Amino acid sequence: MTRSIDVIFSPDLLPFACLQGKSVVVIDILRATTTITFAIANGATSIQPVLTPEQAFAIRQEQSGILIGGERHGKPVTGFNLGNSPSEYQRSVVFGKSIVITTTNGTRTMHACMSADWLFIGSFLNLGSLIRVLDQTNNHVAFVCSGREGQFCTEDALFAGACVNIFCQIDNEVCLTDSAKTAQLLFQANHQRVFESIRNSDHGRYLASIGLESDLEFCSLVDLVDVVPVMIGDCISLCDAF
Ligand code: MLT
Repeated sequence: MTRSIDVIFSPDLLPFACLQGKSVVVIDILRATTTITFAIANGATSIQPVLTPEQAFAIRQEQSGILIGGERHGKPVTGFNLGNSPSEYQRSVVFGKSIVITTTNGTRTMHACMSADWLFIGSFLNLGSLIRVLDQTNNHVAFVCSGREGQFCTEDALFAGACVNIFCQIDNEVCLTDSAKTAQLLFQANHQRVFESIRNSDHGRYLASIGLESDLEFCSLVDLVDVVPVMIGDCISLCDAF
């Protein structure tokens, strides 16, 4: 099979895309998918992305022992257990826990991609493991960037380009869409300065302005963990199918 690879730069473009039958990767490097990947690597048993803080509070009210985390405008939501800095989700905090998370863009994108055959969570932290799993699904692939309130964002496209670049090295028959080719060119031009690209992005500069600069370096760490989170139904857990 000639595998097609597409990159969708914003969830607002999803009405023009077809995800059925594909392996889809949701990307939100700053910071939702980085946070979720690190939490799953540290033993969180399940992570439920929801669309509003009110939904998170309601679920915690019903289910004792769960943690609620996330952000609005990059800052922790008052009354939540956790914000959206990946480094908060240490093993001592999340091991064995169920988590409900809501963020500005990432969790909205996850909900928008639920028609996919497979829905994986991607970040620089699990780049190599993600590619290995995607290759084994033997499906066409779509990388969906969460962007920032509908706008293109460099860090998500850069990661998508890194994935496209690796796929072109392991499979010489891939068919790339124009957006996949563009993402690959972005990565090839910046592959030696991933952290700087993230730090200088719009959202990177905003996070630094609210005192979260340390998140930027964390979110640029490549292959820190060897897990692939997968969303089945409305919950994310460790993918052990491959
Ligand atoms: C997002 O959903 O866009 C991000 O997670 C926002 C953030 O963490 O600052």
